[in-house]
Amino acid sequence: MKMPIQPIYLDHNATTPPLPGVVDVVCETLRTAYGNPSSGHRQGEPARRLLQSARETLQSCLGTSDEQFIFTGSGTEANNLALRSLARHGSCVITSAIEHSSILSSATRLQDEGTPIEIIAVTKEGEVDLRALRQQLSAHRHATVSIQWINNETGVFQPIQEITALAREYDALVHIDAAQAIGKLDTAVEPVLAPDFLSLTAHKFNGPAGVGVLYARQSELIDPLCVGGGQQSGWHAGTENTAGIAGLQRALELRYSELHEAIAHMAKLRDSFERTVLELCPWARINGRTDRRVCNTSNICFEGIEGQALVGRLDALGVYCSQSSACTTGHPEPSHVLRAMGLSEAQAYASVRFSFGVTNTHQEAELAATVVATEAEYLKRIFT
Ligand SMILES: Cc1ncc(COP(=O)(O)O)c(C=O)c1O
Repeated sequence: MKMPIQPIYLDHNATTPPLPGVVDVVCETLRTAYGNPSSGHRQGEPARRLLQSARETLQSCLGTSDEQFIFTGSGTEANNLALRSLARHGSCVITSAIEHSSILSSATRLQDEGTPIEIIAVTKEGEVDLRALRQQLSAHRHATVSIQWINNETGVFQPIQEITALAREYDALVHIDAAQAIGKLDTAVEPVLAPDFLSLTAHKFNGPAGVGVLYARQSELIDPLCVGGGQQSGWHAGTENTAGIAGLQRALELRYSELHEAIAHMAKLRDSFERTVLELCPWARINGRTDRRVCNTSNICFEGIEGQALVGRLDALGVYCSQSSACTTGHPEPSHVLRAMGLSEAQAYASVRFSFGVTNTHQEAELAATVVATEAEYLKRIFT
């Protein structure tokens, strides 16, 4: 198999390359708006304006009813902040078996501290089981529900509208982990969902890493993780990362100015990639519900082979993809998401995630599909 001329990056659910316009604005902000937003003198003014302007952009892109956005150091931190805050105000934390580790580990820690936790099962297709959710909600009135909008491994949409409606019915607070949704979906957050909290992270839509956001419609519920200088109304102490926040703002502006085109582009690449792979490897199959899936993600089970071996061979050939969420890479366990969907350990180990981005091209999708299929066929012959 010939090596692709240029590396082909198909791991955009792990992180995305910051666009040139984002890099420019980050550098420019470091040069010109380096002042501390809390400073009373004039050098603090551009930084203060920048934070305000970023909040306005967030509000207009997300369609929220207000600008109560808390800047954090990551999506993980936003999730920790959300869960810890809501847990203090609910009778129990209800979450699902396929959440990101930032939610599941926070839930475990809260449980160790005495908060009751319920983990909802998912269907074979990778969706939260609504009947199980209703059962838990009726057993724990005034609970807190934390569910992701889109699963990072399979790309499957969670029935988020139904989940928020159910939660309201039982007076539960709602947190949505929207890390994989922002910039890949055209749905306004309000009035349809109206979550109490929603988290996102800039590096999933071609912004810089290290910039997360928690939208807190009910900011009085916030229990700050960081205390100190009283920045951000005391919700998150610490001098703000103005350059990173400027990068987040530019990434949002760029994505939302061409949102439909971006979604259509990623979907076309993903679909053509999948078609070719499945044509050449008819024994492979897609994990998760394909008709309710985000535009860029393909999680394929190459039954009978070792997925890690495939990822390694593709890496050597310049096609970058991953086996489960990047945050758990290095752990020998099979994907907890795929296992929760009922895949056997062997099937979970045989599965690989490919996630496309706006910077990928059609040629890349086609070339990658041929390389992936050829390598998978080769490994299949070896393993069987
Ligand atoms: C669904 C989901 N939530 C949260 C996170 C954490 O975001 P960050 O990498 O900014 O900590 C990720 C990142 O992979 C994610 O996919």
